[in-house]
Formats: sequence, structure tokens, C-alpha cells
Amino acid sequence: MEKIGILTGGGDCPGLNSVIRAVVRKALLDGYEVIGIKNGWQGLIEADTLKLDLRSVSGILPRGGTILGTSRTNLYKNPEDLKQAIANYKKLELSALIAVGGEDTLGVASKLLKEGLKIVGVPKTIDNDLSGTDYTFGFDTAINIAMECIDRLHTTAESHHRIMVVEVMGRHAGWIATEAGIAGGADVILIPEIPIDIEEVCSLVKKRHERGKTFSLVVVAEGAEFKSGTKLVEVTQDAKLDEFGHVRLGGIGEILAKEIEKRTGYETRVSVLGHIQRGGSPTAFDRILGTQFGVKAVELVK
Ligand code: F6P
Repeated sequence: MEKIGILTGGGDCPGLNSVIRAVVRKALLDGYEVIGIKNGWQGLIEADTLKLDLRSVSGILPRGGTILGTSRTNLYKNPEDLKQAIANYKKLELSALIAVGGEDTLGVASKLLKEGLKIVGVPKTIDNDLSGTDYTFGFDTAINIAMECIDRLHTTAESHHRIMVVEVMGRHAGWIATEAGIAGGADVILIPEIPIDIEEVCSLVKKRHERGKTFSLVVVAEGAEFKSGTKLVEVTQDAKLDEFGHVRLGGIGEILAKEIEKRTGYETRVSVLGHIQRGGSPTAFDRILGTQFGVKAVELVK
């Protein structure tokens, strides 16, 4: 029986289990055996696998995260890891490998493809920033969670006559901030693609207050940068880089809130939504998209 491997890499997101479930069900129907590789590329280095059957994927459709686990391991960081992973791909006698991930995981996948391995990539990220896609699964769940949080922050901001800054995810792209912000009726939305002009932000807020409003909602993507003269300042939590060279973002909301309060005199608070946006059960849209991707991936393997 021919074998297909499947792994999930990078940041987890709601809908990963929908893909895994669809791959297993479709592949078994088509006469393949399915091998799950644990914790992204790390599992291929260690040959850490489990056989996936109907029982292993039963009941996982509404579950967040990934039953296979994930990691941010970069096979191209260490030549020994790469050699080991290629050797294990052969040892496991895989006819093809389905790699579910974002820019980093799929970047590794496309390099492995050039080394002669048979790989099908499934695009995944809550940030919705992968080329060749209109939507990636996980994004719809993330914006619905963020929208609900913005709604909740709205009522407390209004009661206390405060400015509420909401920091959402989005490393290079402002899709979450934009769509959750519009859906939640935010007054200002700040995204990585457009440098923040703090004077403009404060003037927008002031104008609103002059109109009689006593509260405002500001949504900011964690990857947004300040415009300071001509120099752009990126706010990071940690100078340490991950294996793909990314810094850990976060903290822009705090700085923005302090700056707005200082410049406008209005009391300001901040809420950082963080990984809440990535956890929990996927929406119907993400379950369906994940299922379609899973079925298509097996068709492409064939
Ligand atoms: O790439 C998806 C993402 O959620 C980004 O929006 C965010 O910057 C990053 O992952 C957070 O990564 P980690 O889970 O490693 O903190």
C-alpha cells in the first residue's frame, strides 16, 4: 500500500484538524496509508510518527490546534538536520508528503521539492498573507474572535469615557486588524503596511471627542511600525530570533496607548489579544475551507 505523510508546521491555527481529517478520510478511501509526522519538520528529523486511521481523526473537526503538534523548526538551519529529514522521508517509504503551513513551512517544502522529494503544500495562517490565496483557513476564526473582543471593549470604553487600544496579530499584513476593526466599528485601524503617524492618530481621536464622543477604539496590528521622521521603529518583545529569523512581536499597543494619553490627555487603556485569536474551535468557514484543502491535497498527490 502506498503511503502519504502529513505534517503541520509553524504557528497553529483553527482548521488544521479539519485538513488532517479530510486528508485521512480521502486518502484511505483512495487506498493509501497515512502517516502523521509529529511537530512539523522536527518530526521528520526524529522520524517521530504515528499511523493515522479513521479512529485517530474521529471527533477532531471542531477542535482547535493540531492533533499532530507543531514547531517552528527550519530544516535548512543545520545541514545535518536536512540530511536526516531526507533520509527519514526515504526510510518511511513515503510516496508523497503533505506539508500544512505558512510562509516558513512552505518555504522549506518548496526547497525540498527542488531536492526531489514529492511534496504538496497546504497554505495555512491566521494572518491571511500567503500569495496565491484569497483566504487561508484560521483567518475567519481569528477575525470573529477579535471582533467579539472589540465589541466587549467598546462597552467598557464607552462607560468609562476612555480610549481603548486593541493589539491584534499580524506580522507583515494588516488583514486581521482591518477586517476585525471594520466589523467591530473601530475608529482608527493601524496596520504594518502603513507607518503610524501618531499626530494623525491623535488628531482623529480629538476630532471625534470634539464632536461629542467621549470614547474611541483604536485597533493596531502587532507588526505595525511608527513613523518617526524618516526612520521606522519596529516594536518587539524580544531581540531573540526564531529559526526563520523572525523577532517576537508585541508591545506596540502599550507604547501607542501611552503616547495617545500623553498627547491628548484622554485616559487610555490597552488590551493585547495575543494567542486567544489562534485558539479554540474553528468557524464553519474555516472547517469547510480546511476540508476542501485536505481533499484537494490528496487529489494532487494522486
Ligand atoms: O504567523 C502567525 C502568527 O500568529 C503571527 O500573527 C504572530 O506574529 C506569530 O504567529 C506569533 O508566533 P508565536 O506563536 O511563535 O508567538
